[in-house]
Amino acid sequence: MQWKSQLHSLKAYQPGKTMEDVKEQFNLDKVVKLASNENPFGCSPSVGEYISSALTAHAIYPDGYAKQLRMKVADLLSVEPQQLLFGNGSDEVIQMISRALLTPGKSTVMATPTFPQYKHNAVVEGAEVREIPLDEAGKHQLGKMLAAIDETTAVVWLCSPNNPTGEYIRNHELLEFMDHVPSHVLVVLDEAYYEYVTAEDYYDSIKLLDKYPQLLVTRTFSKAYGLAGFRVGYGVGHPDVIGKLEPIREPFNNNSLGQGAAAAAVDDQEFISHCREQNRKGLQQFYDFCEQHGLNYMKSQANFILIDFGVSGDEVFHYLMSKGYIVRSGQALGYPEAVRVTVGSPEQNEELISLMKEFLVVSKGV
Ligand SMILES: Cc1ncc(COP(=O)(O)O)c(C=O)c1O
Repeated sequence: MQWKSQLHSLKAYQPGKTMEDVKEQFNLDKVVKLASNENPFGCSPSVGEYISSALTAHAIYPDGYAKQLRMKVADLLSVEPQQLLFGNGSDEVIQMISRALLTPGKSTVMATPTFPQYKHNAVVEGAEVREIPLDEAGKHQLGKMLAAIDETTAVVWLCSPNNPTGEYIRNHELLEFMDHVPSHVLVVLDEAYYEYVTAEDYYDSIKLLDKYPQLLVTRTFSKAYGLAGFRVGYGVGHPDVIGKLEPIREPFNNNSLGQGAAAAAVDDQEFISHCREQNRKGLQQFYDFCEQHGLNYMKSQANFILIDFGVSGDEVFHYLMSKGYIVRSGQALGYPEAVRVTVGSPEQNEELISLMKEFLVVSKGV
């Protein structure tokens, strides 16, 4: 068989241990997963109401235009329905963009470390990947990213807040960048954690779409909306850009229940505000812990925090897992001495912090 040569260097996605696996392995009654930046408060009660009342005919294909959801999101963002592209998670939007624009001979620019799917999809398409290291504070170096663009560059990926650092691009930085990007480049601004942002100098990406038709914003229902299991994400952009991407989308890429659940979730913005507030408080619990113990960390605009323990992240990860808390080791995230922790409920945060304190005592005799 004549596989694309670049596939030989790619690994399949390695799912972490399930909560059931961990329960069994360590003989635990309770396991908490704070590893994938899901919402510890679940989702809006309105989603539950929708699911229990859904008279969805399961023998019938979903609405391939996701009209109800499209109208709700268009209304929420004050954009036209034809400015939206729905994906099976924003993962699929990233895949569609890559499929549409990247080929051998093209290049794509992104930060590193950042969300790995930009690179993964670019490699699948055979494009050259240009990775620009984040600065020490975990921020995109936009000037260097600009300098990496040439006539072969088809897509630039910006992740703000960035996974795994939680850092964000400031309004003036984004404007400066957009003013200088050549017009043949699509700039994808991944805002998977948008709903958690509270920084005052964060930009209004949707408003910027009027000024910059080469900008495409991606967002998701997987994080603050608490619907990761339903796989609904979307892109927002100029109708001409969306129009080019639409033919790549599979006709029924969003299933009926996912569309309905996301539509119900949009209606409950109070839930989102509540989660944003809780998340701020949760982050503060972790900041306080880091300050008290002299640990380096990055201030986050997302629902996770990267904490540097000064020892192997795997070691911290294994210790916490053996006690029933699953976090992400920074080893595979480009921060080998850190762990990335999803902010949980106040009780979960407290319990996790006391286990981290225990780890410090065990590992360093602090
Ligand atoms: C920055 C970023 N973008 C996109 C995604 C993909 O999210 P989903 O496919 O669930 O919408 C994630 C998930 O972790 C993420 O962290």
